[in-house]
Amino acid sequence: MAETAVLFRSKYGASRKYALMLKERIGADAIENENMKPELIREFSNIVMIGGVYRDRINGLDFLRRFRRDLQDKNIFVFAVGCMELSTEYIARLRQVNGLDDIPLFYGRGEMDVKTLSFADRLMINAIRKMAERRTPTELTDSEKTVIEAAGGASWVDGRYLDPIVDYLS
Ligand SMILES: Cc1cc2nc3c(=O)[nH]c(=O)nc-3n(C[C@H](O)[C@H](O)[C@H](O)COP(=O)(O)O)c2cc1C
Repeated sequence: MAETAVLFRSKYGASRKYALMLKERIGADAIENENMKPELIREFSNIVMIGGVYRDRINGLDFLRRFRRDLQDKNIFVFAVGCMELSTEYIARLRQVNGLDDIPLFYGRGEMDVKTLSFADRLMINAIRKMAERRTPTELTDSEKTVIEAAGGASWVDGRYLDPIVDYLS
């Protein structure tokens, strides 16, 4: 068994893609978050959590709270997958919103296609888009720009986003 487990929670598939790419590159085991059990955690010394970003919250981090005791002596890393452009400001925001003070946080851009979203998610994205379309380009926030860009379907998934975490782990 590999010493690193890549855990992921993926609503529409982008985090799964990154988990499988990372697994290949570092020779880890990739396990869907829901299938993780305390007995399994014991087998690994490094745990990488990969999850999509929804309203600045990284999906799947509840795992860290649920298994806090079992994870005490593990090295934890988080890889967030979102549509926002990678910037130090956005990473700082994710760190703050998700309470990741001491945990190494990495980021990769994901993908979005409004047609494949759940009804509730589509409603939200369409509402943001409609509001954004009423503004002039200079008034748009970064997240509004991203929603407009991604509305018709966009994928920024790229293995190069994994380079920093691969370097860190090797
Ligand atoms: C309702 C909704 C909210 C989102 N909020 C954010 C966000 O706050 N920041 C961001 O970077 N991306 C955001 N996204 C984009 C997702 O993070 C992106 O689609 C990602 O690829 C999802 O990964 P997953 O399919 O593995 O869950 C949002 C997408 C949806 C549908």
